[in-house]
Amino acid sequence: MPSRAEDEKRRAAEAAAELVQDRTTVGLGTGSTVAHLLPALAERKLTLRCVATSPRTETRARELGIVVEPFEALERLDIAIDGADQVAPDGWLVKGGGGAHTREKIVAAAAERFVVIADSSKPVDAIDSPVPLELHPFGMRATLQALGDVRLRDWPPSPDGGVIADYEGEVGDPAALAERFAAIPGIVEHGLFPAALVSDVVIARGDEVERLAF
Ligand code: 5RP
Repeated sequence: MPSRAEDEKRRAAEAAAELVQDRTTVGLGTGSTVAHLLPALAERKLTLRCVATSPRTETRARELGIVVEPFEALERLDIAIDGADQVAPDGWLVKGGGGAHTREKIVAAAAERFVVIADSSKPVDAIDSPVPLELHPFGMRATLQALGDVRLRDWPPSPDGGVIADYEGEVGDPAALAERFAAIPGIVEHGLFPAALVSDVVIARGDEVERLAF
């Protein structure tokens, strides 16, 4: 029997799949919540052009008959749907639990509408660490020194060759921390997603699905 969290992920994903319109371009996120989105989307039998944020998502989507193209082939996306690790009341997110946040941020920023799908464990009062990071391997010791409180994940590199790590220090104001990260050249991308990127958050709590518009 699926756990309550799995059930909530499925409900949020199914609600978000209904937001996708026929003959549109769609960004597919990564993670266990998106794993529920893919069959829900495939079931709708729409004509879509999709891009995937990870090889895992790409493989699964293709298995289900969803057309996935390289992102080099598309300029803009009508909609992108993805999970999150933390969702703050003002719409700021932490993403990258699956180490795919660089591609996920590129996809979210290219989408007219970025929809976040989440179970009830994801809303938080305030963004906190860990914040996932993708680091350039060149000069990594210098980058780690500049960052301070960071732990490397015992993971293979990202599909783009980046090293996945987690910032474990103080977060405070996420906008200020995002600026600090942006000023460290060895960080390829960080997992703080500003509220300005987010259009909708679909959160399932038990049987209820709540949709917040930003
Ligand atoms: C992957 C992500 C995921 O969207 C995030 O970690 C949430 O994952 P899940 O849906 O498995 O809880 O950012 O990089």
